[in-house]
Amino acid sequence: MRKKLIAANWKMYKTPEQTAAFFREFLPLVAAHTRDEIVVCPPYIDLQTAVAAAEGSNVAVGAQNVHWEKEGAFTGEISATMLTSLGVTHVIIGHSERRQYFNETDDTVNRKLEIALENGLTPILCVGEVLEEREAGLTEDVLRRQCMRAFNGISARKAAKLVLAYEPVWAIGTGKTATPQMASDAHQVIRHEAEKAFGKEFAEGLRILYGGSVKPENATVLMAEAEIDGALVGGASLDPASFTKIVKY
Ligand code: PGA
Repeated sequence: MRKKLIAANWKMYKTPEQTAAFFREFLPLVAAHTRDEIVVCPPYIDLQTAVAAAEGSNVAVGAQNVHWEKEGAFTGEISATMLTSLGVTHVIIGHSERRQYFNETDDTVNRKLEIALENGLTPILCVGEVLEEREAGLTEDVLRRQCMRAFNGISARKAAKLVLAYEPVWAIGTGKTATPQMASDAHQVIRHEAEKAFGKEFAEGLRILYGGSVKPENATVLMAEAEIDGALVGGASLDPASFTKIVKY
């Protein structure tokens, strides 16, 4: 059995004060919850507040991005060791908004994955097709390519902590959700790529989250799917009560 992981992706929302307020309300609501792993990924500037607030709790803190180099002249960027030194344990890599608006490529995603794993972070690697690709019947090809290139040169031993997130781009922030069947089919493609890269045992243990308009109203039916090992939640994770309902699907 794969333990499900429910992750909040706050994107560019909340100040440190708002982050502290979220945790004050959220932690008591999920305090007794052990069935699933819970991760909150706020903006960089909120990480320290989040880590301090979550200390000793069942909630882990993740970043939304990381640079691929150890350090250097990269104005505005944050390294993996900066994240771990704060107590951050997870990092989202290759989110479609990063690919779309900040020119992230399969190659930079691969390099970010590598440095995250090297530093003991748990990467939540995002893959997913845009609407035109789905309509053209290219979903499988896109997922295969994104996975294959992201996994390039990484060993199964090194990849041990890897988590995948299938996020069809047309479902992000649109209110449209993939059906459990669509998600399940995509997850199988991803699992197969993981098997080719890292072996059968690894693929069987790999957690693949679904993301894209996950809400309290659709979480139960999505999480009931055997292939879906958790959720990556944007909009509905900003409110403690709403995110709690998803955690407790
Ligand atoms: P959404 O975002 O839940 O607001 O659709 C999900 C994501 O982008 O991770």
